[in-house]
Amino acid sequence: MQAQVTGIGAYVPERRMSNDEIATIVDTSDEWIRSHTGIGSRHIAADDEAASDLGARAAERALTDAGISALDVDMILLATSTPDYPGLPSTACIVQDRIGAENAAAMDLVAACSGFVYGLETARAYVESGLAKTVLLIGSEVYSRIVNWKDRSTCVLFGDGAGAAVIQAQESTGTGIRASYLRSRGSDAKSLYRPAGGSRTPLADGDTTDERSFLYMDGRRVYNFAVSVLVEIITTLLEREQLTIDDIDYIVPHQANIRILDAAARRGGIPKDKFFTNLEEFANTSAASIPIALDQMKRSGLISSGSTIMTIGFGSGLTFGGNLITL
Ligand code: UT7
Repeated sequence: MQAQVTGIGAYVPERRMSNDEIATIVDTSDEWIRSHTGIGSRHIAADDEAASDLGARAAERALTDAGISALDVDMILLATSTPDYPGLPSTACIVQDRIGAENAAAMDLVAACSGFVYGLETARAYVESGLAKTVLLIGSEVYSRIVNWKDRSTCVLFGDGAGAAVIQAQESTGTGIRASYLRSRGSDAKSLYRPAGGSRTPLADGDTTDERSFLYMDGRRVYNFAVSVLVEIITTLLEREQLTIDDIDYIVPHQANIRILDAAARRGGIPKDKFFTNLEEFANTSAASIPIALDQMKRSGLISSGSTIMTIGFGSGLTFGGNLITL
C-alpha cells in the first residue's frame, strides 16, 4: 500500500492587511517589507476565529476534494504552533468534533513551520503500516495572536490561514508520498521561540501581555539556517530517488521570505521558476503555508494527477525536512 494525497483544501480569513496598514502600527514601509521579504499583505483572523475554526473549514474542503465523508477519517493530525488552548486539549480534537469525524483519533503535531512536512511523513507511516486507511492532515495557524505587534522585525512577516490534505492507502501505482527527509537541530531552539508561557517560564499572576510570551526570532540566524537546509533537502531527496531537478514539476517551499528562496536557488543551481511562491499575498503562515500553496496550485491547474512535487519546510525547533510526492 502506498500513501496517496487524495484531497487538498484551504481556508484563509477574509481580512487582508496590506503593508501600508502595518505601517500605521509599527515604523515600517511597504518598500522595506517588499524588498526584504517579498511580502505584500497577509490575512488576519477575525477576533472570534481561532486555529480550529480555520482548520475545520480547510478540512471540510479537503474532504470534499477527496470525495469522502468525515466518518471515513481514522486519524486527524493537526500541525500548529498556535493552538486554540495552550497545550490541552489538542486543537485536533476540537476540529474532530466540529467536522463530525466520529471514528477518528485526533492529535496535534508541533514542528512549527515544518509541521506539514512532518505531518505528511507521519500520515504516510500510519497508512503504509496499515494502522490507518485515511488520515486528515491539517496545518492551521493564527500567528497574529502570538507575534509582538510592537516588534517590526517580526510582526510584518506572518499571516493567518489553514490548509489540509487527505492521505489514503491505495495500491501502489508509482504515485504517492515517495520519500521524505526530516531533521531537527534543537541546539538552536532559542533562535525562534516564545520565551515565556510554558513550563520553563510560566506567566506570573495570569500576565498575558508579558512581552516574553510573544514570538522571538533571531532573523539573521534563521535566514542563514533556512538557505543552507533548503539546498540540503533538495539534494538529499533527489539523490534518494535518483532524480534530477528536471524530474520535479514544482518545489513547494514553506513561504517565509523570497530572498531565502532566491539565495537557495543560486546556491543550489536550481532554476528559480521551479519554486512556487504565494507569500506576496499570504506572508508566512507557518504550518499552513505548504497546504495553502498546494490548494492554490491544484485549483489553478499548475499541479494535477501525475505531477511530481517536492515540499520543503523549515522553522522553529529548529526543524526542517521535505517530501517527494507524485500526485
Ligand atoms: O518560518 C521561518 C521564519 N523565519 C524567517 O523567515 C526569518 C528569516 N529571516 C529573515 O527573513 C530576515 O532576517 C528578516 C526579514 C527578518 C530581516 O531582514 P534583514 O535584511 O536580515 O534585516 P536586519 O534584521 O539585518 O535589519 C536591517 C535593518 C535594521 O535597522 P538598522 O539596525 O540597520 O538601522 C532593522 O532595525 O532593518 C531594520 N528593520 C526594519 N525596518 C523597517 C527590521 N525590520 C524592519 C521593518 N521595517 N519591518
